[in-house]
Amino acid sequence: MKYGFFDDNNKEYVITTPKTPLPWINYLGCTDFFTLISNTCGGYTFYKDAKLLRMTRYRYNDTTLDTNGKYFYIKDGDTIWNPGWQPTKTELDSYECRHGIGYSKFTGAKNDIEAALVTFVPIGDPVELTKVTLTNKGNAKKDIQLFSYVEWCLWNADDDMKNYQRNLSIGEVEVVDSTIYHKTEYRERRNHYAVYSVNAKIDAFETSRDEFRGAYNGPDKPAAVIAGKLNSTIASGWYPIASHQLNVSLNPGESKTFVFALGYVENAEDDKWEKPGVINKKKADALLAKYQTTEDFDKAFDGLCKYWNELLSKFHIASKDEHVNRMVNIWNQYQCMVTFNMSRSASYYETGIGRGMGFRDSCQDLLGFVHLIPDRARERIIDIASTQFQDGSAYHQYQPLTKKGNSDIGSGFNDDPLWLIAGTSAYIRETGDTSILEEMVPYDNDMSVATTLMEHLKRSFNYIVNHKGPHDLPLIGRADWNDCLNLNCFSEHPGESFQCFGPSEGPVAESVFIAGMFVKYGREYAALAKLMGDTAEEARVLAEVDKMIAAIEKDGWDGEWFVRAYDAYSQKIGSKECEEGQIYIEPQGMCVMAGVGVDDGNAKKALDSVKEKLDTKYGVMILQPAYTRYHLELGEITSYPPGYKENAGIFCHNNPWISIAETCIGRGDRAFEVYKKTCPSYIEDISEIHRTEPYVYSQMVAGADAKFHGEAKNSWLTGTAAWTFTNISQYILGIYPTLEGLSVNPCTPAEFGDFNVTRVYRGVTYNIEIKNPNKVQKGVASLLVDGKEIQGNIIPFDGSKDTVNVIATMR
Ligand code: GLC
Ligand code: GLC
Repeated sequence: MKYGFFDDNNKEYVITTPKTPLPWINYLGCTDFFTLISNTCGGYTFYKDAKLLRMTRYRYNDTTLDTNGKYFYIKDGDTIWNPGWQPTKTELDSYECRHGIGYSKFTGAKNDIEAALVTFVPIGDPVELTKVTLTNKGNAKKDIQLFSYVEWCLWNADDDMKNYQRNLSIGEVEVVDSTIYHKTEYRERRNHYAVYSVNAKIDAFETSRDEFRGAYNGPDKPAAVIAGKLNSTIASGWYPIASHQLNVSLNPGESKTFVFALGYVENAEDDKWEKPGVINKKKADALLAKYQTTEDFDKAFDGLCKYWNELLSKFHIASKDEHVNRMVNIWNQYQCMVTFNMSRSASYYETGIGRGMGFRDSCQDLLGFVHLIPDRARERIIDIASTQFQDGSAYHQYQPLTKKGNSDIGSGFNDDPLWLIAGTSAYIRETGDTSILEEMVPYDNDMSVATTLMEHLKRSFNYIVNHKGPHDLPLIGRADWNDCLNLNCFSEHPGESFQCFGPSEGPVAESVFIAGMFVKYGREYAALAKLMGDTAEEARVLAEVDKMIAAIEKDGWDGEWFVRAYDAYSQKIGSKECEEGQIYIEPQGMCVMAGVGVDDGNAKKALDSVKEKLDTKYGVMILQPAYTRYHLELGEITSYPPGYKENAGIFCHNNPWISIAETCIGRGDRAFEVYKKTCPSYIEDISEIHRTEPYVYSQMVAGADAKFHGEAKNSWLTGTAAWTFTNISQYILGIYPTLEGLSVNPCTPAEFGDFNVTRVYRGVTYNIEIKNPNKVQKGVASLLVDGKEIQGNIIPFDGSKDTVNVIATMR
């Protein structure tokens, strides 16, 4: 069942009922100022950091209720309604929500009034704009009232929901004409405030939530709206809000348009006040002045669309598969931008007050983002590396606003260091910019101990070399990619964080997954050393990689698949010898991607085992059989009920690893089959089962052991976005950036047919035509570059032309 449809021409998903199984959201904002917005106008706004600079409030632990957002109320006689349906939930005569790329549109109608909202964050300004168009579709004149509504958050979203004894006394606002200024804590240590304004003369305003709602009322029954009159109160403490009242008369057929602006302003420390107690509004007024008319709004909106069209044109496919075209050209790339911006911090499943920027998460997000805006990827790599420790290990997360490592979540996740190599290598393969390797980058933000980025990569690599266990495999530390495989934790008491409890340094527990990563990213690091002329380092690294391959072959192979790990007693995990958890997905994907077992047939065996033991119609599960009880020695993974999350859920992030691994052994049919199972557009028809947004990936789909097999959770912020884009664009469609140039080596299903890709690479546009006359799954027989045949798969980059035309014919 569907709750809407894709409108590919407009790059929108059109939701046709407000009653989706879960709130279906979108993200507004590209760089600093962000809004989450659901299909019923729920959500919240922040500047740079969802925890430290939260502008508007959201109610926690109430996802499906989805309370609080930026609401518009219309009072038409005795009827009060919202164009986005919430919060009054008055039945609408018509409803539509269009989530687009960086904007959302809502159209609601009731009793001959149509209200159309368009909302977005313009490129370059910290402000969210909403155009509200009210139209009288009937034959009689209408006198209605329009009310806006936002509830301010007192900046630190964590403190805001806990520290009432202080917070209920500190709220402060100012109002001048149609602009409401939220200035809580501005008198002391803050130099920023928020504004909410409209480009018309207002009839009244409200800044006190209690006045607006009245005692014991929720946002669904605000007393002042019911009365049709705001009291123009200046809030003092309690719950400051911003609401404008506009009385609107509409003749039959007439429309009126208003532009609302919600902005963030910072002043210099010595320029904070206009006069004692009155904030300096110059910057706010200048910001608002830019968006005073409908024309200003429309121009800025066009600017946003142009910006996105240009970004999305960097990778474009035309094939006969509409799902692939749609996901690759629009939604998958868009989600990659969102995950790059948010890491795992703010979504409808991440509160914005818990996690910051993940070290491993952000490094992986780069893989799917780097072709869009390489400069931002460069900056991010430096930020991430700046939180690394001198021994090569890393904080697991850092705070976006301060860019400092966040010790709440600890360190000692032994896969983290290698992801820095992955992200940096992807950046250099994309751009050719080796100057980044010579940048001086601090450790733990301490510039006095800075070294080159290349030295950071060396320490990443050496960290693994220096932390091996009894089988010469890498020690796992707190956990590897699987945060819930906590082999050194042994937690017996509720409330202890599995990720922080216990020693981070266990001398025995080892990870075959990290071993696979070491082989894959060790080789990428060796290639960078070679590129920089350090052949001695290259040789040293490759020798270490060979040793690791030997260790995997000896103690990391279980006969039919790769072992997952060794626990703190040196017992195998993910082996046929185990009672539960006999096979795990991660080492099968990572080891084969690294090339281990490709020549001796073990890769094929491992992937056949995955298909036989882990596959379901909704995707490939993380492990089988599911753990049915808590294992002290394994940690959080066994704390989840069977079929959920890391305990045998379909953890979408690692499905592309299997798909990529299949391309490594040339099985395009199977690679694509795995791709399709979790691909949002392919499963739009089962939205009532899947339940999360049908235009983006979710972190997890419940596995075969779960009660709700097929149900997804944790949409939007997942490494699945970057890895699936990497999979489909670089491995299945086969356009892979190397250090020397673009490689063309597709691995598609036999029936996929011919296709064309436009790829902007290092400023050059490659028009690539791929022909598959004999319906093979892999192998390029001839590669014509501007009419000349070249040997091999790589088109050497020379940059002498703006456009390069390529014809690849498969065998
Ligand atoms: C979450 C984390 C990610 C981790 C994964 C598996 O998605 O963000 O870092 O690798 O879970 O545990
Ligand atoms: C929990 C989740 C896991 C996530 C981790 C982050 O353990 O199950 O997916 O990566 O928290 O801290």
